[in-house]
Amino acid sequence: MPQKRSVRTRTTRAPRKASGAVPAPAARRLFRTRLLTWYGRHGRDLPWRNTDDPYHILVSEIMLQQTQVDRVLPKYAEWLDKYPSMEVLATAPEDDVTATWYPLGYNIRPRRLQTIAREAVARFDGKLPDDEETLLSFKGIGAYTAGAIRSFAFRQRAAILDTNVARVLFRVFVGTGDAKAHATVRHLWTISEVLVPQRRVFDFNQALMDFGAMVCVARNPRCLVCPMTKSCKSYPFNEM
Ligand code: ADE
Repeated sequence: MPQKRSVRTRTTRAPRKASGAVPAPAARRLFRTRLLTWYGRHGRDLPWRNTDDPYHILVSEIMLQQTQVDRVLPKYAEWLDKYPSMEVLATAPEDDVTATWYPLGYNIRPRRLQTIAREAVARFDGKLPDDEETLLSFKGIGAYTAGAIRSFAFRQRAAILDTNVARVLFRVFVGTGDAKAHATVRHLWTISEVLVPQRRVFDFNQALMDFGAMVCVARNPRCLVCPMTKSCKSYPFNEM
């Protein structure tokens, strides 16, 4: 089942052919270098960046959907303390799971997390698979979460696209048109795929997240401190 769609930007993968040009190899290299250099200086040290445990990554990614990092931090620690494994979560009382989630909101998410845990226990001995197709077969795991699990937990060369990443890639590489159009989102997935480096996939995708949250923010993007301005298709911003 597809993951819940973002209100602002549809980021699930669409099967249609993408439109538009993908960045040339030199532009890809420049973007990667600039992004990773920026991340080395400004990236946040977050607990889910010090683990490659697929369950921990899954918990963080579901919590981070629609919720800011600073609100997730204490709940992430509490959650893993209380439900340290898929098995423990799978067998926990549902009311307890929902209550533990409070006050994060969007109460479908703890239910979704427990459903995934139950499926992982039933089908895979409490583990998450590492291939895209099987991950997508889980109720509650969509294209973004599958990419996050593959790149963060299994260190595979997998792309991600959520609202923040879509905004960054649209501004830097597309610039004009309807950012939410079906064909554009498909195109942004393709851009994300070609950008992922062979090495440092984990850092690259985490850097995209931080860059979207700290520099290329939705309102009043911080172009004055942005390392991408020279090649950004949306700079200078007039009206965003
Ligand atoms: N939002 C979604 N995933 C994230 C991550 N891994 N780090 C920071 N913010 C995020």
